[in-house]
Amino acid sequence: MATRRNVLAVVALALATVVSGAAPAVAGADTDTLRAAARGSGVRIGTAVDMSALASDADYRAIVASQFDSVTAENVMKWEAIEPERGRYDWAAADRLVDFARANGQVVRGHTLVWHNQNPAWLTEDAFTPAELRQILRDHIKTQVRHFKGRVYQWDVVNEVFNDDGTLRDTIWLRALGPGYIADAFRWAHEADPKAKLYLNDYNNEGVNAKSDAYYALAKQLRSQGVPIHGYGMQGHLGVQYGFPGTVFDNVRRFDALGVQTAFTEVDVRMILPVDPTKEQAQAYGFSTLLQACLLARHCVSYTVWGFTDRYSWVPGVFEGQGSATPYTESLQPKPAYQAIRNTFLLAR
Ligand code: G3I
Repeated sequence: MATRRNVLAVVALALATVVSGAAPAVAGADTDTLRAAARGSGVRIGTAVDMSALASDADYRAIVASQFDSVTAENVMKWEAIEPERGRYDWAAADRLVDFARANGQVVRGHTLVWHNQNPAWLTEDAFTPAELRQILRDHIKTQVRHFKGRVYQWDVVNEVFNDDGTLRDTIWLRALGPGYIADAFRWAHEADPKAKLYLNDYNNEGVNAKSDAYYALAKQLRSQGVPIHGYGMQGHLGVQYGFPGTVFDNVRRFDALGVQTAFTEVDVRMILPVDPTKEQAQAYGFSTLLQACLLARHCVSYTVWGFTDRYSWVPGVFEGQGSATPYTESLQPKPAYQAIRNTFLLAR
């Protein structure tokens, strides 16, 4: 695709331009929004959506609708929200997001079917036999994917299944069912919606390291066994104070070679407060460097920020003294990071 070839030629320019905030000139193009800037790039620009904010904050709602062409539920598609009691499903909030997306011409990434976190108490506190757990997992995946069939185009089927050292995470699923639960989860999701693209998803797996090596090996193995795995998601939770991984494109490229799609699924770049212009420039670089890797890749299909405004970001609640992790301030003003994302897309045209 011509757009992707152009990226190679402009990476050096992009590094200078994206962080300076100057918009590159694009003749005759509507480039006012991220969504418009991304058009034709082959990469969708997404955001996580906080459903309480979507209901109560009209300014928030307007930005979700205008700036993004993909949405992910920040919480309402997780197990504790979807199946709060065994066999009783609550689709209301998730359906509202899917309806909102349809009304605004957006696609929906589904997050997430199998995770060790945000599970309902009935699942984690009751003692089930392995056979019962297998049945529970199968029912949950099949019911949820079937409910959204044709309306959710990608699913994070398994989320965060590896530790940073590349060993499998100790979860109720691994303990009861062994590592085969991963292949089963993909098979069940595929049976429920054969057209949905099915993803592995994790954090600290953006560059080449022990964790991404483990994912690469798993993806290769599952593909060779005919397991329907289509994508590799890199969350992209970065921090200015840590610097940025230098091997992101190398990593993305090896999944390209496997024929596996990639996506950046939860990008944010936090910093130690207070904010200053140098940290904001570094943050802009962090956002754009992941996007450049995506644009350079053959099969990287989407780039999603994990919330677009500090008004509702999860970061300060979890990392004490840190914040300002998103492309918009609390008062919904775009930061240099916003301009960097937009300019990186524009330079790829
Ligand atoms: O639902 C309860 C609500 O009833 C209660 O009144 C309220 C009081 O604090 O808490 C609500 O639950 C919160 C939930 O978000 C829904 O808003 C939890 O306390 C809070 O811990 C939870 O945080 C979410 C976090 O996942 C939990 O692990 C964040 O919003 C969400 O951004 C975050 O997202 C994860 C991705 O799913 C996976 N990758 C990492 C990423 C960041 O942690």
